Amino acid sequence: MCGIVGYVGKREAYPILIKGLHRLEYRGYDSAGVAVVSSGGSLNVYKCRGKVCDLENYTKDKDVSGTVGIGHTRWATHGEPNDVNAHPHYSESKNIALIHNGIIENYAVLKDALIENGYTFQSCTDTEVLVQLIEYIKSTTGVSLFEAVQAALKRVVGAYAIAVIEKGNYDEIIAARKSSPLVVGVGDGEFFLASDATPIVEYTDKVVYINDGEMARINRHKPLKVVTLDNQEAEIGIEKLEMSISQLEKGGYPHFMLKEIHEQPRTIVDCIRGRVTPDGENVVLSGVLANKEKFLNARRIIFVACGTSWHAALIGEHLIEDMCRIPVEVEYASEFRYRNPVIYPDDVVIAVSQSGETADTLAAVEVAKQNGAFIFGICNVVGSSIARATDSGAYIHVGPEIGVASTKAFTGQVTVMAMVAMTLAKEKGIMSQDEFREVAKGLQALPSLVSQALKLDEQILDLSKMFTYAHNFIYLGRGYNYPAALEGALKLKEISYIHAEGYPAAEMKHGPIALIDSEMPVVVLATANNIYDKTVSNIQEIKARGGRIIAVVSENDTRVKDIADYCITVPAAPECLMPVVVSVPLQLLAYYIAVHKGRDVDQPRNLAKSVTVE
Ligand code: AGP
Ligand code: GLU
Repeated sequence: MCGIVGYVGKREAYPILIKGLHRLEYRGYDSAGVAVVSSGGSLNVYKCRGKVCDLENYTKDKDVSGTVGIGHTRWATHGEPNDVNAHPHYSESKNIALIHNGIIENYAVLKDALIENGYTFQSCTDTEVLVQLIEYIKSTTGVSLFEAVQAALKRVVGAYAIAVIEKGNYDEIIAARKSSPLVVGVGDGEFFLASDATPIVEYTDKVVYINDGEMARINRHKPLKVVTLDNQEAEIGIEKLEMSISQLEKGGYPHFMLKEIHEQPRTIVDCIRGRVTPDGENVVLSGVLANKEKFLNARRIIFVACGTSWHAALIGEHLIEDMCRIPVEVEYASEFRYRNPVIYPDDVVIAVSQSGETADTLAAVEVAKQNGAFIFGICNVVGSSIARATDSGAYIHVGPEIGVASTKAFTGQVTVMAMVAMTLAKEKGIMSQDEFREVAKGLQALPSLVSQALKLDEQILDLSKMFTYAHNFIYLGRGYNYPAALEGALKLKEISYIHAEGYPAAEMKHGPIALIDSEMPVVVLATANNIYDKTVSNIQEIKARGGRIIAVVSENDTRVKDIADYCITVPAAPECLMPVVVSVPLQLLAYYIAVHKGRDVDQPRNLAKSVTVE
C-alpha cells in the first residue's frame, strides 16, 4: 500500500512532495516522511507517525530546502506505525535514502547477511534492508547508485515500488517497480514521480507508466532512462493524462465520500455515455464486441475481485447468468491465486477493480493468464496495472474515487456489468428485444433514479441519529439485493467501525436469527420483485423476535410499510438494476452514522484505498 512521490527539477521539492502526499494519503496514513538533498548537498530525512499534516507540523522549523526529494505515506506491513518505522529509511552511513511501497519477502535472510557485515538496523520494517543492501553493494563494488539499485533488486523477492536519492546528488532519483505502481510525470527540465497520477496532474499532463520489472533514472539534465533489471533499454511511451484538478478536490462537501455519493447521477451518465444507444435498442461495449467469440464460446466466466468490487461481481454473476445463460463463478482474488484453481483456456476471467492496483486481483489475473484464459478488466483508473495486464476491458469512467469507502465505483461497476451482460445477450440472441429495451431504458433512467434516491439525504440523516450507538447491524436482501446488502454492511463496518453482517434474508433461520433481539437493527432490502412475498415473511420472522427493522422499499409498497419500524422508499428500476438504487440510502446511512460517531470518514483506521500488498 502506501503512496510514493518524488520531484527533481528547478523548483523547491518540499511543497510539491507535501501536496503530492496529501493526494496520495488515501493509500495509507500510518506515517509520513520526506527526504531532500539541500543545495549544500546534505541529505535530510524528516518523518513521523501520523498523517501528512503531522509531518508538516514536525518540519515547521526544519531545513527542508532542496530541489530533489522523495516522500512517502505509509500503510504498515512490517513493524508498527511509529516514527522509526516511517519512511524514508537511511542507509548505514546516511548517504542514501529510500522509500518503498510493497513487501520485501526475503528481508530476513538479507538482513542477517548484512548484520554479519557490520550493518545495524534502526527499524522493524522489511524496507530498511533494501537501502542497506544498496549501500553495501555500492561501497564494496564502487558502482554507481543506479547500478547498485539494479544489483540489489536482483536479490530481492517480493513487491516494490521504490525511489532512492543520495547525498551530494542534486540531479537524480532512481526508481523501480515490481507489482506496485509507479508513474513518472515529464515536465520542462523537471520530473515528477508518484504511485498514481494524482500528484502530477497540476504540473504536467505528460506521463510515463513504468512497467513491471523496470527501473528508471530520473535526472533533471538528461532524458528519462528506463531499463529492465537486466539493463535492456525499454521503450518510453509518453501518455496524455485525462484528469482535472477539480476532480481531486472536495468541491464544497465536508468529505470526499459524500461528494462521491452525490456525484453518482453524473458518473452513471459518464459510464453509459456512447454505450447505450439513445433509442435503447442497442448497447455497444467495444471491448466485449471485439472479443465476442471468446465470450460466446466461453466454458465459464470467472470473476476475480476483492471487497466492494467482489460484491459488484456477485451482481455480475446474476446479470450474466440471467441474461446470457453462461455459467459464472465469483472468486475472492486472494483465495483464487493460491488455491490452484482449475482454469481452462476457453474460460473468460473478468477482473474487477476500482484502483486497478489491488495486488491480489493483479496476481489472480497472472494466474489466469498462465493458464491461457482470456482476461477482461473492469477498472476505473485508466492506465492502471490491471487495466494494462488484461487482454481487453471496459472502464467504468466514474472519475477519481478518493474516499477509502467505495461508492460511485460500485454503482459504476454494476452499470458496466449490466452492459456487458446486455451486449452478450444481444449477440447470443437469447433476450427478447422488449426485455432488452426495458433494461436499456432502465440504464438511461438510472441517473435520475439515483438523483431521486439522493433526496432521501435528510430522512437518512434523521434516521442515522437513532442508530449511532448500535453495536451491531444486520443487512438482508435476496436475489440481486443480496450483494447490495453485503455492500451496505461493508460500508458501515469500514467507516463507522460498527460490526455489521450481510446475509441472504432466507439464511437467517439457519443460524443468525439467534442474534436478533430488541437491540439489533436489521436493514432489509425489500423492494418489489418476484420474491417480495418471501422477503416479507423473512421480515415477519425477525419482527417476531423483536428486531428493529429498517426497510428499503419501492414506492408502491403495501405490506412492509406496516411491519417495519422505519421505511426508506426508493424509486423503481428494472430488478437487475435495483442494487444501484438501493445502494444510495445504504451509503448515506453508513456515512451519517460515521459522522455522528466522529469517525475519519475518508480515511478510516487500518485501511487504505489501494491495497497493493498481499
Ligand atoms: C471498499 O469500500 C473497500 N475500501 C475495499 O473493499 C475495496 O473495494 C477493495 O480493496 C478492492 O479495491 P479495488 O476495487 O481497487 O481493487
Ligand atoms: N513494507 C513496508 C513497510 O511496512 C512498506 C509498506 C507500504 O507499502 O507502505 O513499511
